[in-house]
Amino acid sequence: MSETTPASTEPDKRDRFSDERIHDPEQRFSSRSIRSFVLRQGRMTVAQQRYLDEMMPLIGLPYRIAPLDLDPVFGRSAPRIVEIGFGMGETTARIAAAVPGSDFVAIEVHGPGVGNLCKLVAEAHLENVRIMQHDAVEVLRDMIPAGTLAGVHVFFPDPWHKKRHHKRRIIQPDFVALIASRLAPGGYLHCATDWEEYAHWMLEVLTAEPMLENTADGFAPRPDYRPLTKFENRGLRLGHGVWDLVFRRRPQ
Ligand SMILES: C[S@@+](CC[C@H](N)C(=O)[O-])C[C@H]1O[C@@H](n2cnc3c(N)ncnc32)[C@H](O)[C@@H]1O
Repeated sequence: MSETTPASTEPDKRDRFSDERIHDPEQRFSSRSIRSFVLRQGRMTVAQQRYLDEMMPLIGLPYRIAPLDLDPVFGRSAPRIVEIGFGMGETTARIAAAVPGSDFVAIEVHGPGVGNLCKLVAEAHLENVRIMQHDAVEVLRDMIPAGTLAGVHVFFPDPWHKKRHHKRRIIQPDFVALIASRLAPGGYLHCATDWEEYAHWMLEVLTAEPMLENTADGFAPRPDYRPLTKFENRGLRLGHGVWDLVFRRRPQ
């Protein structure tokens, strides 16, 4: 990740997504009836709740329709990586600890996962992680200035197996175009999945996005910074596959 082009903080004047938001706020993503998640109650452990209560006032970023200036948030200027749907946050915490020179904005809607990442951040004294508990589609559209991110991680998004649910998959042409618009030139989009048919769908959608170019010939080898999760390890032992995709935003 060190070779990632430093992100410019200059907003991209040609941000068709924010234009659309302004001119047609009810369209596209905001009042989306089709979301990539279903909010379940989910049981929060006592520790998760305690860490969430203690840490979110310190490292939580509220959602609002306004560009987010991350320099004052992190108290420095550094490459910024957004992670979409961090689940329980183990991978987020491990990458943030391994790459202290980058800052991570980790987005998840699921409360117990947010509490768990708060716990991991506190225990490891990580200073380069901020958490948003909100729909990542809206966060990218409404808060992340165009052309500013060094990277975006989408690890093991819900595959929505049934064909009639495929429309809920977060990797869709419109959302990939939105992600690409938020990347600085040279910034990367890294997706991973253990669902083969979704992997091919991702490859098709990412390849079709004109702002992106593939860093590999098809699927990519797993970059060293993405640690193997215990589920992935178990799957690999059982002979299941995992597919990584690493695309970059083309230079302008
Ligand atoms: C299958 S889990 C994978 C979690 C984690 N990335 C991992 O590798 O273990 C997908 C996660 O994405 C979250 N998610 C789905 N759509 C989202 C969205 N639009 N915004 C934020 N989080 C979302 C879900 O709540 C869920 O926790």
